[in-house]
Amino acid sequence: MLSSALFLLLSLGTGLVQSTPTLDDLYLENAPSSPRPYVIPHYANSHAVTIGSQLYRFTVTGPSSDYAFTLMSTNAPSSGSLGVLPHIHREHYENFFTFKGRFQLWAEKDNKEQQARLLTQGDYGSVVRNTTHTFQILDPDTEMVGVIVPGGFEDLFYFLGTNYTSGTDTPYVPKTTNSSSAVPDSSTMAKLRTYDVYAQTDFEPRRDIVNGTAPSTEAWHTESNELGEVGEPYFVANGYGPKYLSSKYGYQVIQPLVTPKQAQDTNYTMSTISLSRQTKNSPPSYTLKGAAAFEVLEGVLSIQIGDYPVATLFTGDVAFVPAKTAFTYYSTVAFTKALYVSSGTDGVDQQLIADGKSWDFVTFPKY
Ligand SMILES: *[C@@H]1O[C@H](CO)[C@@H](O)[C@H](O)[C@H]1NC(C)=O
Ligand SMILES: *[C@@H]1O[C@H](CO)[C@@H](O)[C@H](O)[C@H]1NC(C)=O
Ligand SMILES: *[C@@H]1O[C@H](CO)[C@@H](O)[C@H](O)[C@H]1NC(C)=O
Ligand SMILES: *[C@@H]1O[C@H](CO)[C@@H](O)[C@H](O)[C@H]1NC(C)=O
Ligand SMILES: *[C@@H]1O[C@H](CO)[C@@H](O)[C@H](O)[C@H]1NC(C)=O
Repeated sequence: MLSSALFLLLSLGTGLVQSTPTLDDLYLENAPSSPRPYVIPHYANSHAVTIGSQLYRFTVTGPSSDYAFTLMSTNAPSSGSLGVLPHIHREHYENFFTFKGRFQLWAEKDNKEQQARLLTQGDYGSVVRNTTHTFQILDPDTEMVGVIVPGGFEDLFYFLGTNYTSGTDTPYVPKTTNSSSAVPDSSTMAKLRTYDVYAQTDFEPRRDIVNGTAPSTEAWHTESNELGEVGEPYFVANGYGPKYLSSKYGYQVIQPLVTPKQAQDTNYTMSTISLSRQTKNSPPSYTLKGAAAFEVLEGVLSIQIGDYPVATLFTGDVAFVPAKTAFTYYSTVAFTKALYVSSGTDGVDQQLIADGKSWDFVTFPKY
């Protein structure tokens, strides 16, 4: 009698403990099939596929974000040829960000002069809809981060790629492969169009890049870069774009890459946010109308989402915050920088910019 009562009490106790979500519940290996708070560590397999020597991972997917955006990464060795056949997306706004290494990015729209840039760590290229674009990876340890709006574009890579798993989470598979630059046949082309990929077989990528840019008259790692006019592709070199300082909670330097103006009806924003160390005040809590994600670029990001305990994110880790879910974030180390994406026009980045001031530096003040 006594022992069964004790057993009941114990099971009740266990039940209570289990109803409080733990960090283990928060950390996932694969982006989930519907929105919920989660963290995916850098290089987790998250729906990974290989295409030739390129390894693609999808940390935020259409299903995991309610089709707000896709967040993905591509690790690959240097290559003597284009990473993809030149193409256009009519419906999807694609963003290229260099996590590490180097790649070249080409963009051409509306018969204006073709643009090419050499992107190094922290550089950004904005491929608005209906832009012909392609890329080429140039360094052995390269990782591109992609943000594609709306979400769900990963289906293209599931179609093209080979599912991949790993016991070591190696960034990409070390092997010698000959990249195939073969032009797909007409039935494959037609299939690609169903994924919003319109091949541009006539596109000739210019090779006259000097000091990282063609045409050479464009500012690249020399003077400031503006964000683009509505509907125009543009490039922002690391630290050369617009900057804002917020002193609301410690210091934060916000560097917008896409604001509501550039996003237009795609309805999202994207910035990097650099944080100073946590002060004694408690960090503000946000509850946004849309989904948001953080990917750590440098330092250590602490984030508390919904009822989950505080998670500690290191370089390359991704945290996803579903719409209408409370969260706080802060840094306990001197300098933490994250890439921030959010659905809608009133994400944390836009709120901090509205409350902050225009700022000329990538670092915050010394006091
Ligand atoms: C590959 O992975 C996707 C999603 O991650 C899954 O839907 C699909 O069934 C897998 N394909 C194979 C052949 O295992
Ligand atoms: C992109 O091009 C297609 C085909 O020309 C056109 O129907 C669509 O409106 C364009 N999209 C945007 C956002 O301009
Ligand atoms: C790659 O191509 C070269 C030259 O055509 C050939 O000698 C080599 O065997 C190929 N390697 C692989 C792994 O297919
Ligand atoms: C490339 O950069 C070097 C060093 O800053 C400069 O001297 C040269 O004029 C640049 N070339 C062009 C074409 O701008
Ligand atoms: C923009 O996104 C926000 C957040 O996801 C959503 O609440 C809003 O309805 C969207 N607006 C439009 C015009 O789609």
